Amino acid sequence: MTGGAGYIGSHAAKALHAAGYRVVVFDNLKAGHRQAVRYGDLVEGDVCDTNSVRDAIRRHEIFAVMHFAACLDVGESVREPVRYYRNNVGGALSVLEAMTAESVRYFVFSSTCATYGEPLETPIVETHPQQPINTYGETKLAVERALPHYERAYGVGFTVLRYFNAAGADPDGEMGEDHFPEIHVIPRAIDAATGGRGLEVFGDDYPTPDGTCLRDYIHVADLADAHVRALDALVETGKSDAYNLGTGRPHSVREVIDSVERITGRRVPWTLAPRRPGDPAVLYAAPHKAQAALHWTPRYADLDAIVGTAWNWHHAHPKGYGDK
Ligand SMILES: NC(=O)c1ccc[n+]([C@@H]2O[C@H](COP(=O)([O-])OP(=O)(O)OC[C@H]3O[C@@H](n4cnc5c(N)ncnc54)[C@H](O)[C@@H]3O)[C@@H](O)[C@H]2O)c1
Repeated sequence: MTGGAGYIGSHAAKALHAAGYRVVVFDNLKAGHRQAVRYGDLVEGDVCDTNSVRDAIRRHEIFAVMHFAACLDVGESVREPVRYYRNNVGGALSVLEAMTAESVRYFVFSSTCATYGEPLETPIVETHPQQPINTYGETKLAVERALPHYERAYGVGFTVLRYFNAAGADPDGEMGEDHFPEIHVIPRAIDAATGGRGLEVFGDDYPTPDGTCLRDYIHVADLADAHVRALDALVETGKSDAYNLGTGRPHSVREVIDSVERITGRRVPWTLAPRRPGDPAVLYAAPHKAQAALHWTPRYADLDAIVGTAWNWHHAHPKGYGDK
């Protein structure tokens, strides 16, 4: 698992371990956390260094790669495209090169709803045109587009998982979300509720019931579960495919704030800020394909349940992993 010391990867490692897989995390720890690697060995290294990836594959007898490692801040990607193309595209191609050299045949890729761009219709189905409106989405789409070529030429089967908004924390409280800087609304709202800097709401004049953006929050443990099923299915059927991972139920930023206030019993101080360029009003998944093909159903579809797990972790770890 590249990027397995990060937020989603660390949860997926737990799910893979529980399903009987032997997990090896390959991470440069730039955004990840050593303490988040609780399941499996940690190899410190950079995915752009093809030889180190090859070496790790050989030494640990890897038979499948889940590729989480990437940079993921949309605003930063627009300001620093070099970094995003180098890490997200160059990094993924480096891993694929190492895999083909070592005859590894299975690749599960962390993609994103940002590859769809401004939705033409919602809920978003997998066949929706992919026209990203920012550099981050472009870099993820570039990798998606490379995959069929690698499959044809080198026989690398792949599963593309397009996550919507990952949220929540391990229900057992072992891992949680600790990005620096934090860019996601639930941890930021929790931080605001607990005396951190206030939350900014980017626009309240969208054509939505309360004027704030609607998003699809998918629990990180449900994402983790989907990864296990995706790998099982890929190995079993050998069929490459792409799936949306979301609940199919959108929630507004105001609803998130209300939920955080309900769950924490504290007020979330927030201010209104201008709309951010490239923020669509409504983004939510049609999750039926993953549900049918992977027999996957999100267990934490309720927003309060998602926020509850995030709050439990933040309450117990007010400084996150405390290493950044
Ligand atoms: N968080 C979300 O809501 C979301 C939504 C859609 C897609 N995704 C994708 O899911 C993946 C994981 O996201 P996350 O929220 O867990 O992010 P994260 O930053 O918590 O984890 C990413 C991990 O990758 C590692 N990494 C980055 N570049 C590396 C490199 N060159 N070499 C080795 N390790 C490297 C980081 O140290 C970190 O541990 C990313 O690919 C992201 O684009 C995330």
